Amino acid sequence: MKTIDELLAGPVAGKRVFVRADLNVPLSGTTITDDGRIRAVLPTVKALAEAGARVVVASHLGRPKGAPDPAFSLAPAAARLGELLGADVAFATDTVGESAGATVAQLADGQVAVLENLRFNAGETSKDDAERAAFADLLAGLADIYVGDGFGAVHRGHASVFDLPARLPHYAGHLIATEVGVLKKLTEDVKRPYVVALGGAKVSDKLAVIDQLLGKADRILIGGGMAYTFLKAKGYEIGSSLLQEDQLAAVAEYLERAEKTGVELVLPVDALVSSAFPDLKAKAPADPTAVAADAIPADQMGLDIGPETRKLYASKIADAATVFWNGPMGVFEHPDFAEGTKAVAQALLDSEAFTVVGGGDSAAAVRILGFDENAFGHISTGGGASLEYLEGKTLPGLAALED
Ligand code: 3PG
Repeated sequence: MKTIDELLAGPVAGKRVFVRADLNVPLSGTTITDDGRIRAVLPTVKALAEAGARVVVASHLGRPKGAPDPAFSLAPAAARLGELLGADVAFATDTVGESAGATVAQLADGQVAVLENLRFNAGETSKDDAERAAFADLLAGLADIYVGDGFGAVHRGHASVFDLPARLPHYAGHLIATEVGVLKKLTEDVKRPYVVALGGAKVSDKLAVIDQLLGKADRILIGGGMAYTFLKAKGYEIGSSLLQEDQLAAVAEYLERAEKTGVELVLPVDALVSSAFPDLKAKAPADPTAVAADAIPADQMGLDIGPETRKLYASKIADAATVFWNGPMGVFEHPDFAEGTKAVAQALLDSEAFTVVGGGDSAAAVRILGFDENAFGHISTGGGASLEYLEGKTLPGLAALED
C-alpha cells in the first residue's frame, strides 16, 4: 500500500487530490456533538494543502436514501473543517453536479473544498456494479489523485471507497496508515494477556468478531444491550431487556466453546434496571436499581452493568498487556446509566496495557464522558471497520489501496 508520504515526496502542487474521508460525525440538528472524525483527517488534509495540492474532501454522512436530504448535509462538517484548519473551506452543494465542478475548478493551489454527502447519489452505495462505476467515473473527473483516509468506511464496497481508487493513482492517508498499524498489533503477535471488552446494543453485530476472538483473546468481557442475550442463553430471566432471540443458539455455542478452549467469556454479574428506556433528551432521573444478573424482575429492563460488574471488569482489565474495547456498557447517553461505560474507560486508563478503543460509539462515549482521549493508546475512528478487520475480513477500501 503506497502511503501519502510517497505522494508528498514528489510534486503535488496544483494537482487535484480527492481525499475520501469519513466525516460521518454525530449531529444534533446542525450541531456536531463530537468532531473526532474531522480532527482525525486533519493531518492528511493539512499536509496536502501545505504542499500546494487542490484538496477535494468527500464523505458520507448518515444513511440518506440516495437523494439529497438536508438533514444529512455535510455543510456543518465542512464549516468545522474550516475552523480546525484555520482557513476558508469551499463547499459544493452537490457531489458531481454543477456546484462540485465549479467549486473544484475555482480551487487555487493549497485550497480545500468539501463536496456534499456522497450518499445523496444512489450510485455511491449501489449494489449494481455499473451504477457504482458510473458514479465513480464522474468523481474521477474531479481529481488527478486519490487519497483514501476514511478509515471508518473501508469496510464498505462503495463507489468512492472501492471503485474510485481503481480509476486514479491512489495512496493511503495518514489516518488509514495509523489505524492499520495499530490493528496489526492486535492481530499479529499480540502481547498477552489480551483482554477484549465488547458492548453495544446488538449481539448480531458482534457475532463474527466473537467467533474470531474466541481463538485469540484471553478474556472477553461482555456488556451493553447484547449482554442480555448471553444471560438469557444461560437460562436467566431478563425481563424486558434487549433480546435477540434468533442469536440465542449462536451465543450458547460461544459459551460452550469458551468453556472448552479456556477463554474467559465474562458476563455481567449484576445490572442496573429500570421499568422503561430512559428519556435521552430531557434526561429525567430514571431511578435505576441494581439487581443480580440472574434476578432481573420480569417488568424491568437492564440498561447498564451494575456496580459488582464494574469492579469485576476493572479487575479483569487491570493486569492486561493489550486491551481492545468496542461498544458502550450501557445507555451512557443518560447519566444514570453511564457508570458502566465510565468504569471500563477508567480501567483502560488505569492499566499499563496498550489500549485500543474501537468504534464510533465508544470513541464518542470516551470524549462525551470527559476522558482525555490522548491518554488511551489509540482511539479508532472506525467501529464496523475495526471489527471487520479483527474478524480477518478483506476490507474493500483497504484492498483497493493495495495495488
Ligand atoms: C460508521 O459510522 O461506522 C462509518 O461512517 C460507516 O457508516 P455506515 O455504517 O453508515 O456505512
